[in-house]
Amino acid sequence: MTAADLVAELDELAVHFPTPAGLVRAVDGVSLAVRRGETLGLVGESGSGKSTAGLALLRLVDPTAGRVRVAGADVTGLSRRRLRGMRRHVAMVFQDPQASLDPRRTVGDSIAEPLTVHRLAGSAVARRARVAELLDLVGLRADTADRHPHELSGGQRQRVGVARALAGEPDLIVLDEPIASLDLSVQAQIMNLLRHLQSDLGLTYLFIAHDLAAVEHMSDRIAVMYLGRIVETGPPERIYRRPAHPYTAALLSAVPVADPPVERERRRTMLSGDIPSPVDPPSGCRFRTRCPQARAACAETDPALVEVGPDQHAACLFPLDGGAAEPA
Ligand SMILES: Nc1ncnc2c1ncn2[C@@H]1O[C@H](COP(=O)(O)OP(=O)(O)O)[C@@H](O)[C@H]1O
Ligand SMILES: [Mg+2]
Repeated sequence: MTAADLVAELDELAVHFPTPAGLVRAVDGVSLAVRRGETLGLVGESGSGKSTAGLALLRLVDPTAGRVRVAGADVTGLSRRRLRGMRRHVAMVFQDPQASLDPRRTVGDSIAEPLTVHRLAGSAVARRARVAELLDLVGLRADTADRHPHELSGGQRQRVGVARALAGEPDLIVLDEPIASLDLSVQAQIMNLLRHLQSDLGLTYLFIAHDLAAVEHMSDRIAVMYLGRIVETGPPERIYRRPAHPYTAALLSAVPVADPPVERERRRTMLSGDIPSPVDPPSGCRFRTRCPQARAACAETDPALVEVGPDQHAACLFPLDGGAAEPA
């Protein structure tokens, strides 16, 4: 693995937000590398810091500590002006296309904005042609360019969000729960679109989701996040078959599976209670207050990510032995 194989990297990143209730430690020491051409699934309950980590990759939030590297360059301290050039390398598709598209602008203008910002299409004619091409890529007619977001369905709006993300030909697209606010019937269409675009255009995705089911068929690797930290990373065949972190096992218990051993494990690992406040995370292991396997030592020691299997790392003092579904 050389630096050129990594499109983006978070290195011990912290993003803290001062609020009246105290310092919100949204991201609190996350190291994560996205490899060129892969889909990295980033999974965790709502409030675990996934969106903030994604925004940090676009430098749309300011890091409190740690580094952000994009396409080999350290962008942690870049000025606003220098950032503009960098932002072409990473694009984001947001959960709610209604909120992420300017309601007063035509679809064409929204898609063309990155082209203008990054000076990618010289003339108005060239820009219009490129917008038509992008609309075609996402399965929309060229005349959609003249519409406004409110005239489109949720699925169509998200296609526009994807077209806009593609406009700058980014090295990485952060997909922040891109189907979570869509009707069930439309979700599969958007997933198919994302899959086809990836294989046709060789895209790299960071795919954010709040449950493991959403990323199972899409991800080459999975990273599980809890309360501002990565607690486990690994290839899907490990994460879904032999999770090492009790939190991963608990998330899995929410995934419908046909596998009897996993079904058995499910009863043992149901998640109870809410995620604790990121203003005052538990001492030691942050998951210990909800962990069915927690022991006294878990309150004392903050576990680091250690290798627990092939390309699999977990931050747990007492990783699950063989995971939920040891193959026979
Ligand atoms: N701009 C902000 N100001 C204050 N708190 C924030 C801000 N953005 C996110 N948070 C808080 O940080 C935590 C992580 O949020 P977020 O990154 O959105 O998590 P996720 O995407 O996993 O749901 C949450 O507790 C959230 O309320
Ligand atoms: Mg989020």
